[in-house]
Amino acid sequence: MVLSSADKTNVKGVFAKIGGQADEYGADALERMFATYPATKTYFPHFDLGKGSAQVKGHGKKVAGALVEAVNHIDDLAGALSKLSDLHAQKLRVDPVNFKLLGQCFLVAVATRNPGLLTPEVHASLDKFLCAVGSVLTAKYR
Ligand code: HEM
Repeated sequence: MVLSSADKTNVKGVFAKIGGQADEYGADALERMFATYPATKTYFPHFDLGKGSAQVKGHGKKVAGALVEAVNHIDDLAGALSKLSDLHAQKLRVDPVNFKLLGQCFLVAVATRNPGLLTPEVHASLDKFLCAVGSVLTAKYR
């Protein structure tokens, strides 16, 4: 997944707009993923997944932090996400299909809170970015 310079500008613009609220977007995306694709809950048997769960909020913060880190190193996603890639591909062994689902839910979290932000071009760029993050996090299966 190659991001053009226009994609990178669009993605940085979205995250600049999200600003300090990224944690909430992360938690919202997770809540949406668990509600819309219940099979994803099987990776979190040790979590309280009830509405407003502090664990989901805490995990949303971690996911959002990783996405912000990725945006800050958008020219070196593999390097920026290397440790997380080891964790997801070698230890957690999350089925790659799930990254697409979380990415879609993150897109919806952005869209619902920012009417008009996701023009077709910005939507496409953010989708490409989230797919690129997912590819890195699932690159080390063996
Ligand atoms: C843990 C990021 C997708 C399942 C984590 C952590 C981060 C993270 C930052 C915490 C690592 C740590 O504590 O050192 C991401 C990002 C994703 C993504 C950026 C894609 C955009 C997924 C998906 C699933 C998943 C799709 C499964 C449906 C898990 C699980 C943990 C974890 C089970 C461990 C939770 C715990 O026990 O605390 N992820 N993740 N991740 N992730 Fe992901």
